[in-house]
Amino acid sequence: MREQYRAEGLAEEELAEGPMAQFTRWFEEAAASGIFEPNAMVVSTADPATGQPSSRTVLLKQYDERGFVFYTNYGSRKGRELAANPRISLLFPWHPIARQVIVNGVAEHTGRDETAAYFRTRPHGSQLGAWASEQSSKVASRAELDRLYGDLAARYPEGEQVPVPPEWGGFRVRPSTIEFWQGRENRLHDRLRYALTDTNWQVERLCP
Ligand SMILES: Cc1cc2nc3c(=O)[nH]c(=O)nc-3n(C[C@H](O)[C@H](O)[C@H](O)COP(=O)(O)O)c2cc1C
Repeated sequence: MREQYRAEGLAEEELAEGPMAQFTRWFEEAAASGIFEPNAMVVSTADPATGQPSSRTVLLKQYDERGFVFYTNYGSRKGRELAANPRISLLFPWHPIARQVIVNGVAEHTGRDETAAYFRTRPHGSQLGAWASEQSSKVASRAELDRLYGDLAARYPEGEQVPVPPEWGGFRVRPSTIEFWQGRENRLHDRLRYALTDTNWQVERLCP
């Protein structure tokens, strides 16, 4: 499959009308290729005070013309960094098919209704886990984490509705650039980047 995509390459005239349509095409091809968790993406944020970047994997849960959505804890490192500096980068590492997509943009909170609707689709145990874990803060031990979870499981037994934790929710990333990278022979990879200018998307080719 990797060889097939490398041979075919990515040409300007084959691109979809807009970047989200192109993303949809590649996302569906990544899923069809059998890549494990094609929706896993590396999210990078930067601490505005020090400039220090940080990265972690999260799962893409939804995308459409408004942007890319993932869910997390707003009090986590990424959540705190985004509150002060909403500039963000997403990277989809689809190595088995020699592809990579990089999205740069700005993140904003999803609405509480949208967050709640998604939270209710999660398994009961994950809902409790969201309450039990004050993400990115220090915890004394594994036992402490298990105790917190146990207390919550006693308070909200299976079948009982778990409220959405106030610190938990979605980020929607509004893209300003989306680069589609296709691995080719002799390191002459194809890199086509959509960049938003006012309300139009322009496509530019970058040297590999
Ligand atoms: C495959 C995979 C998927 C993950 N998905 C999520 C996710 O959707 N949301 C999330 O908050 N953390 C997710 N994590 C955990 C994050 O990588 C990270 O440890 C956590 O969000 C805390 O990051 P931070 O301290 O930099 O904010 C995932 C980790 C892996 C390996």
